[in-house]
Amino acid sequence: GDGTAADPAPRTGTGRGDRLPPRTSLAPPSPEWSFNRTLSNSIRRNILKFLDAERDISILKGTLKPGDVIHYIFDRQSTVNVSESLYRLLPAVSPMKDQHHQRCAIVGNSGILLNSSCGRQIDAHDFVIRCNLAPVEEFAVDVGRRTSLGSVLWIPAFMAKGGEERVEWAVRLILQHALNVRTAFPSLRLLNAVRGYWLTNKVLIKRPTTGLLMYTMATRFCEEIHLYGFWPFPRDPQGNPIKYHYYDTLTYEYTSHSSPHTMPLEFSTLRALHAQGGAAAPHRALR
Ligand code: CTP
Repeated sequence: GDGTAADPAPRTGTGRGDRLPPRTSLAPPSPEWSFNRTLSNSIRRNILKFLDAERDISILKGTLKPGDVIHYIFDRQSTVNVSESLYRLLPAVSPMKDQHHQRCAIVGNSGILLNSSCGRQIDAHDFVIRCNLAPVEEFAVDVGRRTSLGSVLWIPAFMAKGGEERVEWAVRLILQHALNVRTAFPSLRLLNAVRGYWLTNKVLIKRPTTGLLMYTMATRFCEEIHLYGFWPFPRDPQGNPIKYHYYDTLTYEYTSHSSPHTMPLEFSTLRALHAQGGAAAPHRALR
């Protein structure tokens, strides 16, 4: 469907792996939600069969050199050269090496966060992951301001063509100002590995979103994962309009036509996990 809240959610299937339930409604989860450690551990084990986020979160120095030509994962016929400056920012060891956190928040960028007052709840997590450098200061009450990715900046330089200038801009900025961030450039195998994992659950995701990539990787580092700001629908369950992003005026209609993602499918999959206690927090889970 086009993702209105009233649409039937796409199927998520019942794969072998983590045995996701078939599909769930978009109604708010029950307040009695509780974390299912057994399920969460089994998800982690199954994801580890496909990827090890400690390794796949970034290409390391030594595996590439300046001038190397990389084919974009999604646009195989297009290539990009590894610049001197990008090479300088490749980490020598995984920026997430030996990192383990009890409770992690992954913050998606949906307008559902506006007026949620979730900021304090989000900031109370041990580790906070945000997507696409979304602004926080002026929205802090609703989205919080902590960001643990302030210490690891994840730059998908080789995924899809079109972002080359922005990548170089970010890289130059970090070098010029000697910014105190660790950088990560996702490995070339990450995307296929993530797709492979979800396929075992019969969820066919052509281009996983940043949010789903973060969730899949976070299972490696986080005991409990809580999702906020995942709501790819123009209306909330009560029918009130919801902005696509909490911080700009992009409309859901615009992005649903141009976007290669299948956010509603991802949403219903994560929602199904939530219903089983496998991911996310009580009530505000996917907000
Ligand atoms: N998201 C969501 N509902 C929205 C907007 C975003 O569930 N209305 C989730 C998606 O998982 C998305 C993440 O929040 O990847 C970050 O949002 P955004 O910056 O909007 O991602 P996009 O640029 O739209 O997509 P991507 O970076 O994944 O290509």
